[in-house]
Amino acid sequence: MTRTADLLAIAERTFVKNYRQQPIVLARGAGAELWDVDGRRYLDMTAGIAVCCLGHAHPELTRRLAEQLGRLTHVSNLYWNDQQILAAEALTSRSFADRVFFCNSGAEANEAAVKLVRRWQQVVANQPARTTMVATHGSFHGRSVATVSLTGQPKYREGFGPLFGPVEFVPFADLAATRAALSQPTACAFIVEPIQAEGGIIVPPPGYLAGLREICDATGTLLVFDEVQTGVGRTGRWWGHEHDGVTPDVMTLAKGLGGGVPVGAVCATERAAAGLAAQVGGAVPHASTFGGNPLATAAANAVLEIIERDGLLSHVTETGAYLGAQLAGLVRSAPGAALEARGRGLLRGLRVAAGAAAVVARARELGVLLSLAGADVVRFAPSYVATRAHVDEAVATLAKVLAEGVANPT
Ligand SMILES: Cc1ncc(COP(=O)(O)O)c(C=O)c1O
Repeated sequence: MTRTADLLAIAERTFVKNYRQQPIVLARGAGAELWDVDGRRYLDMTAGIAVCCLGHAHPELTRRLAEQLGRLTHVSNLYWNDQQILAAEALTSRSFADRVFFCNSGAEANEAAVKLVRRWQQVVANQPARTTMVATHGSFHGRSVATVSLTGQPKYREGFGPLFGPVEFVPFADLAATRAALSQPTACAFIVEPIQAEGGIIVPPPGYLAGLREICDATGTLLVFDEVQTGVGRTGRWWGHEHDGVTPDVMTLAKGLGGGVPVGAVCATERAAAGLAAQVGGAVPHASTFGGNPLATAAANAVLEIIERDGLLSHVTETGAYLGAQLAGLVRSAPGAALEARGRGLLRGLRVAAGAAAVVARARELGVLLSLAGADVVRFAPSYVATRAHVDEAVATLAKVLAEGVANPT
């Protein structure tokens, strides 16, 4: 028996069977590479689903986290800590936002954003009837009850009713439908991903986000950009919305922010942030025991500094453009199997004619880790330290898999 087989046997009898993990057990990483418990090497084009933006075991991130562990890990929000204050400053100085709330994940950030916009309408704007959240078909906003209710893909919602509501869905990139939904007197806020990521790496046409800004301003609703996947440099700019030259009222972050350490954030304008502000003598409207702890926010500080210092935003733009061109090349060279290259920066997808899950499984057998985005899109979301050589290796493997024809998933 291999070590992998031993461990998988334990996992088989001890885990809730919610996931469908690929049958490998990873133990070690460095940069864009991973090794399993039996020493087999993989090229990582997934980075923990768009999380490990500095790659695995980045020496400086590792050193700074180890130092922070030796100083202070957790104190709660009964007190301030130095790292969270520096992280809030780091985020507000690099974005439109004036104020930050820290939490631990993307779902939690969106959950807090929902509470913020609801309470903003009820308590700040004195519009208690404005409770309807508007979201897009094909979206993904998380797995908590409120955020799964905002997720415009029925497969994620099935079996969990009654869900959070009222929620209304409109087609992604449809400004007319959005205007109609937000013009209702009950509309509260609109939540949208600047690029629909889990929905299939769908980049909206230029001007979509600017159109949303205009509609929200005209209708008295708030605009929330879910940048959990597109934020922190993944598209080659700090925030995905920068490509459209507009800013939201609220932006949610997680994934890349901690480079692998769980940390989420809600970033808001001064005006919108009033939605979560405690009133004199009132209860604390929202909180998280772990949110903003020194370890997580030290990770965020290191990630933001290293991305800036090492010029990784332009590296993401250049390497991402190269990856996009290579994927477009696959569409030309394997037209029956590869249908469309999508994405921006280092968030890329290849729509395949059939068997995307089988393609991902076969690529893993050949030593390249990819993931799915939607049913028919193979997603690339590598770390920002991935090089052209890594891209070449991954695309050559993908070309080989497509040339073999669709294998049976394992
Ligand atoms: C756009 C977006 N929002 C929210 C989430 C949920 O984040 P988490 O899994 O950290 O709760 C994800 C996760 O994939 C996401 O892509």
